[in-house]
Amino acid sequence: MLSNDEGKMRTALCGELRAEDEGKEVALVGWTANKRNLGGLLFIDLRDRSGLCQVRVDDAAHCPDIRNEYLLQVRGKVVRKPVANKKLASGEIEVAASSIEVVSKSEQPPFIVADETDALEDTRMKYRYLDLRRPIMHGRLLKRAAIMKAARSYLDGHHFLEVETPCLNLATPEGARDYLVPSRTKQGKFYALPQSPQLFKQLLMVGGIERYYQIARCFRDEDLRADRQPEFTQIDVECSFLSQDEILELGEGLAKTIFKEAEGIDLPAFPRMAYWDAVDHYGSDKPDLRYDLRMEVLDGLSKLSSFPGYQEGTAIRALKVEGYAAKASRKKVDELAAEAKKNGLEGPLFAFKVEGGKLTGSALKFLSEDGASYILKETEAKDGDAIFLLGSSSRRKAGFALGSVRILLAKELGLTLNKPHYPLWVIDFPMFTYDESEGRYVAEHHPFTRPRDEDLPYLDTDPSKVLAYAYDVVIDGYEAGGGTLRIYDPVLQDKIFRLLGLSESEVRDRFGWFVDAFKYAAPPHGGFALGLDRLAMLVTHTDNIRDIIAFPKNLQAVDPMSGAPGEASEKALADLSIAVVKK
Ligand code: AMO
Repeated sequence: MLSNDEGKMRTALCGELRAEDEGKEVALVGWTANKRNLGGLLFIDLRDRSGLCQVRVDDAAHCPDIRNEYLLQVRGKVVRKPVANKKLASGEIEVAASSIEVVSKSEQPPFIVADETDALEDTRMKYRYLDLRRPIMHGRLLKRAAIMKAARSYLDGHHFLEVETPCLNLATPEGARDYLVPSRTKQGKFYALPQSPQLFKQLLMVGGIERYYQIARCFRDEDLRADRQPEFTQIDVECSFLSQDEILELGEGLAKTIFKEAEGIDLPAFPRMAYWDAVDHYGSDKPDLRYDLRMEVLDGLSKLSSFPGYQEGTAIRALKVEGYAAKASRKKVDELAAEAKKNGLEGPLFAFKVEGGKLTGSALKFLSEDGASYILKETEAKDGDAIFLLGSSSRRKAGFALGSVRILLAKELGLTLNKPHYPLWVIDFPMFTYDESEGRYVAEHHPFTRPRDEDLPYLDTDPSKVLAYAYDVVIDGYEAGGGTLRIYDPVLQDKIFRLLGLSESEVRDRFGWFVDAFKYAAPPHGGFALGLDRLAMLVTHTDNIRDIIAFPKNLQAVDPMSGAPGEASEKALADLSIAVVKK
C-alpha cells in the first residue's frame, strides 16, 4: 500500500480539498462513487466521510480495473478544474492521479450508493453498511452526535451528574408492553428491559444526587409508527428542589442549546398552553402550531340546532378554513369525515360554505337562524370560507377527531412547508383518564406524578378534574419530550394507588422496593426526558425515525440485516427451562 514519508495511508480528505490546496501532493483513500471514461481519460468521484472529490487519471489504459464502490488509494496533485462543479464543495479542484491502488474490491452493490437512490427501505436496511456510505446518512449521524454532545455540555454546565442505571430490571410503570429477559439463575423469573430509567432516577434523588442525567436506551414493545422504535434513546433528566417553572426553564434551555449546536437555529421562547386549550382549539395534546387553523368551541350551539344526537353538554367544535369553499367537494368532505372517524368521531362531520355573507350546505336544515349566525360570528368566517363542524359526548374525542381533520388539511394546503420550528410546552395534563373498558381511572402519565396542589381536594370528590404537574415539550406537532413533578409524600402516594385501583398487596408486589425508599425523607423532585430520536428527526427534517438511527428495526420490529429476532438454540432454552409452544 502506498504511504507518504511519515507512513500515512492518507494525507487529505476528499470533501475538504479547496482551491487553496492547489499544487499540493496528496494521498486520498475513498470509495468509488462514480467513474466516467472519456477515451483514455478517466474521471473518478472518490468518496470518504468528508464528502466527494474528483480524481483525474490521464492514462486510463494503465489504471487497474476499477468498479463502483471499490476502495481506492490515490496519490496525486491538487489542480484547479477549468470549470468548477458547483454541486461539490470540492468542485473547484480535482486531483490529477500519479498512482492508483485498489485497497479493497466490492461486489456490485444492490443499489446505487448515493443520496438520490430508488432502493426500497428494507433493502437499504438489509445492506445498512452500504446505506450508511450515502453522504446524507453521514450528515444525519453527525447531527445526532451533535445533539448528544450539546446535551452533555449543557447539562454538565448546569452541574448535572451523568449516572448509568441498570437494563435488567423489574417492570417500570410507563404502561407499554415490556421486553422480557429470562433469568437462568432464577428459573421461571424474568427481567424487564427498562421502558425508561424512571424509578432509578427518582431513587437517585432519594440518594441525594440532586441533579442526574443519562443518555438512556429505552425499550417498549408497542405498535410501531414512523416516529416510534422498539428501542430508542432519551436524554433523561431528574433534579431535586426545583419548581415546575425552574424545570421548564432548564428543559427549554437544553432544547435551545441542542437546536443551536445541531442545526444552527435559535429557537424562539416556548409559549405554554394548557392541555385542555390544546385539545379544544388544536385538537391534539401535541399541537402543530407552525400553522394556525384554530378550532372554535361551539358548545352553545346545541340549544340553537337540531343536529341528530346533539344535546345539552355535547362538545361541539368547528374549524374554519379560509378560501376553502371551492375545494370542499362532496368527495373531499367524505375523505375528511373518514379521517375524523378513524380518530374517534362517532357521528357525522358537517360541512358549510359561506356565500353572500350566509352559511350554505345541506346541514343548514339542522340550524335555526340564530344557530347559523352564531357559527358565523364565532368563526369570523367570510365569503369563500369553508367550516367543518362535529360533536361528541366526549370533550377529548370531539377535539381529537376535528384535530385530525386540521392536520390533513394543513398537509393538503402545504401549511408546514418551509416553516420555522414551533416549540411549546403543553402543561396541566389531567392526572387520570377514565378507562371505560376497565371501569376505573388510569394514570395519564405514571402513578408517581404529583397532582397540582390546588386540585388535591378533587381527589375525594371528582378525580377527573385533577390536573397534574405534568408537561410535554412539543415541536412541530411531535411530542419531543415530557416529564412531571413526582410525589414525595408516602401518604399521598398511597391515596393515588388506591384511586388507581391498586391494592396494598399489588403495590407491594410491583413497586414495594421503590415506595419503601419514600419512608426515608425523599426530597421534592421532578424531571423530564427528551426523545433523542425525535429531536434528531426534527433537526434533520425527516419524518422517518429510521433515517436517524444507524441500525433501526422495521415496522415489524425486525432488523432486516441480521434477521433479529431469531430462534434460541435448544441448549439455551434448556438452560432457561423454557419451552417454546408454537401456535
Ligand atoms: P415518556 O414516556 O413521555 O416519558 O417518554 C419521553 C419521550 O421519549 C420519546 N419516546 C419515544 N421515541 C421513540 N420511540 C418510542 N417508542 C418512544 N416512546 C417515547 C418521546 C417522549 O416524549 N420517564 C418519563 C419521563 C419523565 O417523566 O421524566 C418518560 O419516559 O419523545
